[in-house]
Amino acid sequence: MDWGMANRMAQLIQSDGKCMFLPVDHGYFQGPTRSLERPGETIAPLLLYADALFATRGVVRAVVDPADAKPLILRVSGGTSMANGDLADEDVTTSMEDAIRMNVSAVGISVFIGSDYQKQSIINLGRLVDEGERYGIPVMAVTAVGRELDQRDSRYLAMACRICAEMGAKVVKTYWCADGFDRVVDGCPVPVVMAGGPRADTELEVLEFVHDGMQNGAIGINLGRNIWQSPHPVPMIRALRHIIHGNGSVAEAQEIFDSARAETAELVGVSD
Ligand code: 5RP
Repeated sequence: MDWGMANRMAQLIQSDGKCMFLPVDHGYFQGPTRSLERPGETIAPLLLYADALFATRGVVRAVVDPADAKPLILRVSGGTSMANGDLADEDVTTSMEDAIRMNVSAVGISVFIGSDYQKQSIINLGRLVDEGERYGIPVMAVTAVGRELDQRDSRYLAMACRICAEMGAKVVKTYWCADGFDRVVDGCPVPVVMAGGPRADTELEVLEFVHDGMQNGAIGINLGRNIWQSPHPVPMIRALRHIIHGNGSVAEAQEIFDSARAETAELVGVSD
């Protein structure tokens, strides 16, 4: 691996081999998603606890201070919206030239395996990897399921992750699944990070699945809504950080969540 590529990978994956990416890219097809209406305000208290930010160039340029930024994974695919059509019909929307101008650590693209646009999306990934390899920029492939969240079984996820790795992605983002997540990771020759999907009913559920995913071979998370849509985003990200970088148990993470939540409540003078 060339020095530039290796250096960028090291900005993302920390010296313990783990990583915590904070995705706030949802607006690229969802518009002002709940709790991300003013992304600068959402990001500000969380950035300290993240290893990298996953966002579009528009949001980064508008709300992220270049003098005080984390490594950036730039979302470079899009072309669809919740308003109409098939969410899988994406293309590359941001040039590698602009990604380099923004000093990114990686670029990210969604890949819609099993959709009507599977071929287009795999070819988009392959071309992005070609360009990334030319300039030393890693590509994170996002195994996207569009509206078909129920497709998240291990057989599907293993196939999607493996195809992304075969196309040259350096990191693959996928979803955790209760049965066979170890097979998803084992079948993928590059590191796997977990997304969270829509907000879970309780924080404990999230701590449990992230812990299980880490035990089964994931190297970290790219987890958004279950952090910033939580009523307690900072306690949540701190608890997750303990699992990822502190090799912590679910019980320890829950303790961190509870005490951080109590601290916050004390600071703002409210009681639960
Ligand atoms: C949105 C994405 C997100 O980056 C990814 O799904 C992680 O976010 P969440 O944990 O909220 O699912 O690709 O298109």
